[in-house]
Amino acid sequence: MSVALRRELKTKLEVEAYWDHSLTPSKENPFPLAPPDKVKEGLVSVLSYQKQNLLLAEKSLQVMVPELIEITKSRGFEKGPRGIEVLGAGLMRDLGWLTSTPATQFSVSIRDCSSVACEHAETFVKKHRISAKVHKMEVEEGWKSGQIDDRGTILYYAGQFIQNQYYEAVCRILEHLGRFLATETEDGVLRRKVYFLHPRGEDNPTDRVQWKNTTPYWDIELRASLEKGFGGKVLMETIGKHDHFHQRYTFFRISAP
Ligand SMILES: C[S@@+](CC[C@H](N)C(=O)[O-])C[C@H]1O[C@@H](n2cnc3c(N)ncnc32)[C@H](O)[C@@H]1O
Repeated sequence: MSVALRRELKTKLEVEAYWDHSLTPSKENPFPLAPPDKVKEGLVSVLSYQKQNLLLAEKSLQVMVPELIEITKSRGFEKGPRGIEVLGAGLMRDLGWLTSTPATQFSVSIRDCSSVACEHAETFVKKHRISAKVHKMEVEEGWKSGQIDDRGTILYYAGQFIQNQYYEAVCRILEHLGRFLATETEDGVLRRKVYFLHPRGEDNPTDRVQWKNTTPYWDIELRASLEKGFGGKVLMETIGKHDHFHQRYTFFRISAP
C-alpha cells in the first residue's frame, strides 16, 4: 500500500471517528451538535437542547414538505427521475419530511460516512417504515465510484453538511452539484434541485457565534463553485430561516434559472 493511500485511509478513519464521537452523547459531549460556545458557557440544558432540536425538526418539515408537493405536481414529474439524495444523516433532526406523504413518491438514499449517523438513519427508517436506503460512505467517494446515480436523482438535500467540509472539498462538492443542476432530465428540461440548510457567514458574525470545525461559508463562496460547475448563473433562493439557539440557519433552494 502506498504512503499516500495509507494517509488517505487514515484521514478517512479519523473523519469517521470524529463524527462518531461528535454524534454520541458522553460526559465530554453531553449535547451532540449543540452550539459549542453555548455548551462551554453552560447555557445548554436538557430542556433547551430538546426544545431546540424539536424546533429544528418542525421547521424543516414546514419548509420541505411543500417543496416535495410542488415537485410532484410539476410537469414531467411522472416520467422521472425520482431519486432523493440526502447528504449527511447526523442526528436525523431535519429529515422528518422524508416520512411525509409526498416523499413516498420518491426513492430515497441517505449517505453518511459515520457508523453512528448510519445507525440513526437505519433506526429512523425502520421506525417510520419508509423505504429509504442508508449507505455508509463518503460522498465524494460515492460520486467517484459511480455508486451515487445523479441521472436518477431529482434532488439533493444537504443539511448542516457544507459547513463541515474544508474549503477545497466544498469547492469540489459544490462544483459537482452545479454540474448536477446542469444535467437535463429525459425530456430536456433542467428541473433538478439542490437544497441546503446552511449557516451563512452573513448571518453569523464571528463576534456573536463561535463555531468548532464549522465554517459558515458566505453566499459568494457557495455561488462561485456552484456556478463554475453549472456553467452560468444559478438561482439561489431563500425558502426559510431558522434560529437554532443563537445560530441563524437558511434553507436554500438552488436550481437552474
Ligand atoms: C452536522 S451533521 C448533520 C446533522 C443533521 N442535519 C441533523 O440535524 O441531525 C453532518 C453529518 O454529515 C456527515 N458527513 C460529513 N462529511 C461527510 C462526507 N464527506 N461524506 C459523508 N458524510 C459526511 C457526518 O458524519 C455527519 O453525520
